[in-house]
Amino acid sequence: MKTAYNFNAGPCVLPKEAVESTINAIRDFDNTGIGLMEISHRTPGWERTMEETRQLWRDLLNIPAEYEILFLGGGASTQFMTVPANLLNKKAAYLQTGVWAKKAAKEAKNFGETVIVASSEDKTYSYIPKNFIEKVPADADYFHITTNNTIYGTEIKYDIENCPTMLVADMSSDIMSRPVDVTKYGLIYGGAQKNVGPAGVTFVIVRKDILGKITDRTYMNPLPTMVDYRTHAAEEAKNISMFNTPPVLPIFVMHETLKWVKDTIGGVAEMNKLNLKKSALLYEEIDRNTMFRGTVECKEDRSIMNHCWVMAEGRENLQDAFMAFAKERGMVGIKGHRSVGGFRASLYNACTYEAVEALVQCMQDFEKANK
Ligand SMILES: Cc1ncc(COP(=O)(O)O)c(C=O)c1O
Repeated sequence: MKTAYNFNAGPCVLPKEAVESTINAIRDFDNTGIGLMEISHRTPGWERTMEETRQLWRDLLNIPAEYEILFLGGGASTQFMTVPANLLNKKAAYLQTGVWAKKAAKEAKNFGETVIVASSEDKTYSYIPKNFIEKVPADADYFHITTNNTIYGTEIKYDIENCPTMLVADMSSDIMSRPVDVTKYGLIYGGAQKNVGPAGVTFVIVRKDILGKITDRTYMNPLPTMVDYRTHAAEEAKNISMFNTPPVLPIFVMHETLKWVKDTIGGVAEMNKLNLKKSALLYEEIDRNTMFRGTVECKEDRSIMNHCWVMAEGRENLQDAFMAFAKERGMVGIKGHRSVGGFRASLYNACTYEAVEALVQCMQDFEKANK
């Protein structure tokens, strides 16, 4: 097979062990003689896989029993609506650090007053606004953040302290990349297709006691069955996340991916060490190389997952040449999002240190060739 270093922003590289075991399961799931895509989701082997997947989440992120872990369809974009549907009584607060955050806030407006606490739209979301927590209204039902801004390469890499209201986070593109104190959040959600699996399944980690509290609102109240998180958390019915047919294939890949994080990497803290090492290697090169410059204003806001850079001043005419040069060396998915331009390399969990070394070497070779 052709060597390709996959730096796509999502869907993206998966652990090869997870891909291999999924191929086997597609042929024969759990020694049943039936393939994964053909089994009933009510077979004991599948129910066990669901339970194990939930347990892997609990173990890896230390998720306490008062939180439910749901696997749903519709992508993170559907959660932009489902979160306010379940949690917004009167007012919600949002931090606008990118287009995904903006889209989330837009959906909330249908359910009640939506306050944009701070925004970095003025500079193409190239920074995380400072001191935003002081501006969060205490009477908001929740405060929504996007921890990692996939398109712009900025990240809130810590758990926010002293939030005056319940914290809700879209962690689509940095979940499982570092330890998270789940107890600081009422709800965490994201699409799986970066660090925890392929597209087709969405994770929601939600504290059970915050659900079923919509009293003041008339819009979408009562909640449609599929929109109400409690439908999917119906533990007593033993159908957790199986109210309707679950996407078994993406959930299986998630199971294998999480097993890899736990058993091969050694957990999320170890994963974080490796991610920091990969990220430092690339940022050092972006900062050193005379051909390039990073796009994020402040180094402390730089994402560990998505690394964005453009050609240095006076070198802009070499952009296409570098893209062709990198392509020739097997670099895939390094074109920056059209709103930022230049280049973006996503170093998600399954991206290897060797892949980053190859990219850095490619950047150095390009500099030498064009000096
Ligand atoms: C931070 C963030 N939120 C939300 C989304 C949308 O996810 P989905 O395509 O699963 O709806 C993305 C997609 O890249 C993302 O990066």
